[in-house]
Amino acid sequence: MKILHTKNEINLKLLEHRNASKSIGLVPTMGALHEGHLSLVHKAKGHADVVVVSIFVNPTQFNNPEDLEKYPRTVNEDLKMLEKSGVDYVFLPSVEEMYPQPSKLKFNFGDLETTLEGAFRPGHFNGVGVVVSKLFHIIKPDVAYFGQKDLQQVAIIRRMVEDLSFDVNLEVVPTVREEDGLAMSSRNRRLNSEERKLSVMLYESLVWARNELFAGCSWLEVQEKISHKFNEEPLAKLEYFELVKTKSLEVVSGIDLGSQLRANEFSICTAVYIGDVRLIDNLPI
Ligand code: PAJ
Repeated sequence: MKILHTKNEINLKLLEHRNASKSIGLVPTMGALHEGHLSLVHKAKGHADVVVVSIFVNPTQFNNPEDLEKYPRTVNEDLKMLEKSGVDYVFLPSVEEMYPQPSKLKFNFGDLETTLEGAFRPGHFNGVGVVVSKLFHIIKPDVAYFGQKDLQQVAIIRRMVEDLSFDVNLEVVPTVREEDGLAMSSRNRRLNSEERKLSVMLYESLVWARNELFAGCSWLEVQEKISHKFNEEPLAKLEYFELVKTKSLEVVSGIDLGSQLRANEFSICTAVYIGDVRLIDNLPI
């Protein structure tokens, strides 16, 4: 496994592979890797001839400076995990390498970026759009792998790829969970033991809501009960709990159980503070 820090180095290396007609798979990450990230790597290993993982804690996607500062950085452990998983190249650039000058670029993803996460994290998806575009230009992958866990990120990147005609296929990988159902996340390591126990509330609420919905309960009633449940828990603060159309992210107020539902047509999405750690999760239905 080779670790490369500059655009030029990785460009040169990947050119050799491209000239030899090898396909390139990219897994973009911010490090602090866990099994969720590795499932993207495994998928890439199964598809692409050459697998590149990028590790870059992208400052422009953090709307809260404290969140950026507290973001876990575990590069040595990350590299060991990637080596074991058979990754070919790790792209590990500095902030200066990625942003030689502050980027003034502004994307406008319209409704896709103002709903859900976008409403609580202004500027976040602009930063994601900028950094993912840069990574696509630098690595020029044939396929890029993203997690279902970040549903809105997937919708936005998909749209960006279409609108800007990026020549890349996107693969979306299902959410990997801990045994109790908590979606794996780099942020989970910031939870203390009491918070960790409580954090299973996210997944349990999603599953409960889905079941209630399919039992014929109205979505408004489900939302109210969920909101009440979180209000009763002093360590938790619910930001949103919404039913959306998975592709457009349009918030809806119910589903028609009488109609033929396509698999994963809708998703239930939530964001919750557990202590001062902000967690997100979703359940396609
Ligand atoms: P990061 O949070 O490190 O996640 C990297 C990738 O791993 C994302 O596509 C994310 O959806 C996926 N992932 C995270 N947890 C997962 C889980 N439990 N199961 C499956 N996949 C999971 O997302 C980012 O970084 C950044 O925004 C990035 C795209 C790298 C741009 O900076």
